[in-house]
Amino acid sequence: MQKLVINGEKRLCGELKVQGAKNSALPLLAACMLVNGETRLTNCPRLSDVFAAVRILGCLGCKCSVSGDSVTVSAQQPCGCCVPEELMREMRSSIVFLGAVLGRVGECMLSFPGGCELGPRPIDMHLFALRKMGAVITEQHGELMCSCPVGLHGADITLPFPSVGATENIILAAALADGDTIIKNAAREPEITDLANFLLRCGARISGAGSDTITVRGVQSLHGCEYSVMPDRIAACTYLTAAAITGGEITLTGAEASDLDSFLKVLELSGCSVYTYSDRIFLSGTPTLRPVGMVRTMPYPGFPTDAQALATALLTQARGTSVIVETIFENRFHHVSELVRMGANIRVEGKVAIIEGVKDLYGANVMAADLRGGAALVLAGLAAQGTTTVSNIRLIDRGYEEIEKALASLGADIERK
Ligand code: EPZ
Repeated sequence: MQKLVINGEKRLCGELKVQGAKNSALPLLAACMLVNGETRLTNCPRLSDVFAAVRILGCLGCKCSVSGDSVTVSAQQPCGCCVPEELMREMRSSIVFLGAVLGRVGECMLSFPGGCELGPRPIDMHLFALRKMGAVITEQHGELMCSCPVGLHGADITLPFPSVGATENIILAAALADGDTIIKNAAREPEITDLANFLLRCGARISGAGSDTITVRGVQSLHGCEYSVMPDRIAACTYLTAAAITGGEITLTGAEASDLDSFLKVLELSGCSVYTYSDRIFLSGTPTLRPVGMVRTMPYPGFPTDAQALATALLTQARGTSVIVETIFENRFHHVSELVRMGANIRVEGKVAIIEGVKDLYGANVMAADLRGGAALVLAGLAAQGTTTVSNIRLIDRGYEEIEKALASLGADIERK
């Protein structure tokens, strides 16, 4: 098993281009299934989850080729409707294929995604919405069998919570459905807007993406296009924090600052100087980080749950007490016990983490328990005295393209072993 070995206390400085967004590339690849023709996605991050999505498309009868950061998908004659269980297990978010496969082929079989390292991951909202659109879904022995004998039709759907995945699945199912679908209390994440923009480019009729009410008017067919995946906002937050936690300076290029507003505000509160330009963000760190009061994770445009662990790592180094409340996932504080091994002073009470800043962190052997929590351990290792070894890094590799090369290019002493 590979590990990341970090010798900390190096000030990170330099310029870095942000990778394409994993959480946008996955629904976009699912959307390619709807297109009667060839689609080329560029700026696609080279990550294990993206390769798993490409393998799923292959199982569904699409022809795919990957070259550098571009993926070409030809879905002229999709002939499969079954997502193999091992691919469902490998990537929980493969549930986003359900809406697209149903919409294009009229039936879909996949296994229930089950829980993951963040706790239970129910899909009740996805199934409720698809049933409202005419899908007949049976669940048996962990398998989901879905069909729409007379095709999918538009529906008025009010989500009880603005779920990102459910909103994506509904948009995908609605793109070729008969009539109008209105999604109320829709997720407003930038990845939803990216999916809608891609589908619009392919001839879909969608309005309201980015707001809490999205309308999709079903069309007969979609045509291929070339589309560049949006920049990864959580990777951007990660590299900004790497500079902030080491008192360094970074220019992030290819980044969309407006997508990062709530996170940039926390960086500023902590004493960093942040300047944003049309396609770049400049951050200059401070030798004395300040505590930031209370941060609550919320659906977009609130503070992202995916950046919670990153902020926790940063605030271990502030001169005072900060509080983080995790409201989205039940079980997203696995990184805390590992940060404590490195000398952090953090107490978790239910959904709340109370972080008392400490002067120094110390290198230790720590283990990633999930993707963003693993990245937080790497960040702590950059600031810590001595050597930190992070194991189980396959979880980090799910979301970051060669994280060690990106950090080393900024002056970090980090190696994959
Ligand atoms: C997406 O997951 C992201 N994944 C997650 O990023 C991210 O943390 C999450 O959105 C929230 O922003 C991808 O885009 C691939 P949700 P998703 O449906 O769509 C509950 C990362 O680190 N819920 O918005 O699965 C659910 O349990 C990953 O890159 C239901 O109860 O998230 C959770 O508590 C991790 N029933 C909350 O809603 C449902 O049917 C938000 O989940 C669906 C969700």
